[in-house]
Formats: sequence, C-alpha cells, structure tokens
Amino acid sequence: MRILFVTSEAYPLIKTGGLGDISYTLPNALRQLGVDIRLLLPGYPAVLEQLSLIEVHENIRLPPLQEPIRILTGIMPGEITPVYVIECPSLYERDGGPYQDSNGKDWSDNALRFGILSQVAALFGSHHLLFKPQIVHCNDWQTGLVPAFLTFNPNQSARTMMSIHNMAYQGIFPPEVVESFGLPPESFSISGLEYYGKVSFIKAGLYYSDWITTVSPTYAKNIQTPTYGCGLEGLLTIRQAQLTGILNGIDTEVWNPDTDPLINHNYNTKSLLLKSRNTQELRKKLGLTSSTQTPVIGMIARLIEQKGIDLVLPIIPDMMKSGAQLVVLGSGDKKFEEALQQLAKYYPQQISVTIGYNEELAHQIEAGANMFLMPSKFEPCGLNQMYSMYYGTIPIVRRTGGLADTVIDATPNNIQAKIATGFIFEKENADELLFCIRRALRTFRDKTTWRQLQMTGMNRDFSWQESAKQYVSLYHSILN
Ligand code: ADP
Ligand code: GLC
Repeated sequence: MRILFVTSEAYPLIKTGGLGDISYTLPNALRQLGVDIRLLLPGYPAVLEQLSLIEVHENIRLPPLQEPIRILTGIMPGEITPVYVIECPSLYERDGGPYQDSNGKDWSDNALRFGILSQVAALFGSHHLLFKPQIVHCNDWQTGLVPAFLTFNPNQSARTMMSIHNMAYQGIFPPEVVESFGLPPESFSISGLEYYGKVSFIKAGLYYSDWITTVSPTYAKNIQTPTYGCGLEGLLTIRQAQLTGILNGIDTEVWNPDTDPLINHNYNTKSLLLKSRNTQELRKKLGLTSSTQTPVIGMIARLIEQKGIDLVLPIIPDMMKSGAQLVVLGSGDKKFEEALQQLAKYYPQQISVTIGYNEELAHQIEAGANMFLMPSKFEPCGLNQMYSMYYGTIPIVRRTGGLADTVIDATPNNIQAKIATGFIFEKENADELLFCIRRALRTFRDKTTWRQLQMTGMNRDFSWQESAKQYVSLYHSILN
C-alpha cells in the first residue's frame, strides 16, 4: 500500500496545532502496519533547517508560478517516514508562521502557496514523479485542490482521501484562482468548488475526493448540521455514505508521564503521588502560592472563539472565590490575550497567563495541573483532553465533537461503574461551565473518587493502534 500524506504542518518540524501532531503520529502508526506512507510538505525555513535533504526532482514548472521548483527528500527526525519537501523560496521561505505573518495576518498569497502544494501532490497522484502513490491522503483546506486537480487530469492514477481536521477554516479565494491554476471553467459551479461566488479549497476537497474522513465520530455527525457544518452541511449530508469519523490517537512516547523528559518528576499509575511534586514545581515556576487544598486548573490552547475562552473569562472571579488556581498557556486573539493578562495582574497569586508557544511548559502544565479546562464551542477531536487523562489531570469539557467521544462524565452512575474520566457540561453557557467546574472542585476534595478518576483515565488506551487500522481498511475499500 503506497500513500502520499499531504499536509501543511508536521511535528517536530513545524506545528501550530493538532494537525501538526497528527501528521507525525498517524504516518508513524501506519508505517508500523506496513503501509508505505510518505509525507509531502512545503519547504518552510524550519523544515529546510531541520532535515538533511537531497534533490530528487529539479526544474519543475507549475503555472501560474514564474520560477521553477525543486522537490527534495529526507527522513522525518528520529523516524522512518520519508518526507518530500517542495523548495520554492518565493512562496515558503519567509519569517512568520505557515499561514500568517508575525502580526497574525494571513499571507496574501495563500491561494498560490497552497495551490502549488496541491499541484505537486497531484503530480505524484498522476504518477509523474518517482514515488507513485495509490492514494493521496489530503488534510484540511490547504490540500483541498488536490482532488480537483486529479479529477480533471486525464492521467489521474491515484485515488484521494480528504481528512477534515477543522471545518471552520475553508480557504476561500477569488474566482480567478480557477483559471490561473488551469482548472476547467465547469469546476466553478455549485457542483464543484464554487462557494458563494468564490473558490473554496475545502469544498473542492469535499466535492471531488473519493472519500472523506474527519477526526472523531461525533464531529462527523456534527458537521452535517448547520451549527457545525460552516455552510457545507448540505454537501456533507449528500456525501455521508463516504464520510467516516475516525478518532485521533496520541503519541504515547512524546506524551507519557512515566518517561517525559520535559517534566520534573516522572510518574505512573503506581507512583501517582509524585504528580503533586510536579504541581509544586509548576506553582513555583509561575509564581503561584503553594497550597495542598487548592487545585490548579490548566488550559493550553489557541486563544480563539473555538476554544470557548469567552465562556471562561466572565466566571474567573467566581472560580477564584471557589478556591482554584488557573494556569493558561496560549496565543491567539489579542482581545482574549489582553483580558487574560489583566485578570492575571488582578490575581497574581492565583492566575498565571503565558502568552506564546512553549512545548516544555505545555508538558509541565499537563503534569502539574489537577484539572484541565477545554470548554470548546466545537472540537473536531482535541488532543489535550487525551494528554490530560493520560497524565492523571482531570478534563472539564463541553459535550461536542471528539471531547464527547473521549471523556466520560463523572455522574454518580459512571463513578460507581468505575468508567468516569472527567466532567462534562452541555450548553455553550458560562453558568453551566461554572456549575461543572464547581462539581469538579467538590469531587477533588473526595480523594478516593478523585484517584479513581485519575486511574481510569491513565489506564485508557488512547494510542493509534485501533484508529490506524481503521485508516488501513478505508484505504483498502477506496482502492476496491
Ligand atoms: P487545535 O489543533 O484545535 O489547536 P488540539 O487539541 O487538537 O487543538 O491540539 C493542540 C496541540 O497544540 C496540542 O498538542 C497542544 O499541546 C498544542 N498547543 C496549543 N497551544 C500551545 C501553546 N501555546 N504552547 C504549546 N503547545 C500548544
Ligand atoms: C484541528 C482541530 C482539533 C483536532 C486537530 C487534529 O486543529 O481543531 O480538534 O484535534 O485538528 O486533528
């Protein structure tokens, strides 16, 4: 089985969120099942710097790009997965992030940058290059044009799978994109990639791919409704026979409290008491008062509406009164960053806010916090709630998407049945969230029950084993 996995980010080379994690862990898990899966990535500076690369193809001309591109190849750090990298300095070699400049503004030439990524993937998929995949596995809007390019290519030789990690980002661009990439005019229609007079990269992927997946079973259902479908619920409902939700796994080597080199004290289910030392270290590092009665609530997220920050902000004073400390790590909307920083100034001994991206602190929060807050409005899968359960850090989540599929609410029945792993609330409402947090704070005082929640979460299997097998069987059914 030969698969090309096309992605706009991959840990540890370049990561802005969960897609980066998945682009590392899923291909690894698939290789262990004997799949010859290889990555295709844009040649951002961070990618070129971290890999030893050799040239495999030169002088490839892809309209509308003026300059020729090169394709380089190497091996993912510490792994066995081969990676192809597109070298094109004018598109990818610049300071800033993969999608935005350093001020958080989308790059104005993103249509070209990710159109070219998709065109190169389509070259692989029409067997013009050395590696000849049977399936091109696309991820999110950045790769949405691949199925369109292949559909209109008489030499198409690979099938396509489109994985949705987030419906809210769609890649909407002016209609001229169609002609500039040489796509036929008929593709610009409601039965195609047109979306309210513009080109939608994600719609192209959803419309032209052989199969669609998303990253949890509940999100697969969610996106067929107007609330979560972001305008494409109709198309997704039409295609529901080719839409599968497969839950993401986590990398239990990178995220393992027993071996994690980034935390101060390693621990496992047999030495769970050592977790409290991580809590003390975290408090010390962030300047919070030390106390054994007050739990630390952690939050690591892109600070955007999706993550429910606006539900958290108004109830922070009540959380503080109820006796909790809050540790936030993240970056995103300036208004959320500033509001959080204000509150941290007001409660210096109880709240710590770190704006930025910090892998080490993220691990230390997972190890040190007692609870983890993820009140997302929508969540395709979510990884931090799984990292949290694996670290004995009890998640407080809203019942949506992958959060609903991974956390089991601590109701009296579930506690009695010894299956509870966290606290869930239903509605997008700050009072409901506060009520849920108070339920968690009360349970925290009952040491026996708390320990049971921790043990149940730590013993759950969040690895890729089962999910990777589901991808393999989908690949087979697409080819048949
Ligand atoms: P999303 O992809 O929507 O951001 P996920 O929960 O799937 O949400 O994945 C987020 C990933 O990014 C996790 O690995 C999380 O630890 C990491 N992350 C998010 N923000 C930060 C940050 N500020 N510093 C370090 N890691 C972060
Ligand atoms: C997206 C989603 C997140 C998911 C991740 C990886 O960024 O927001 O829920 O876990 O992709 O699939």
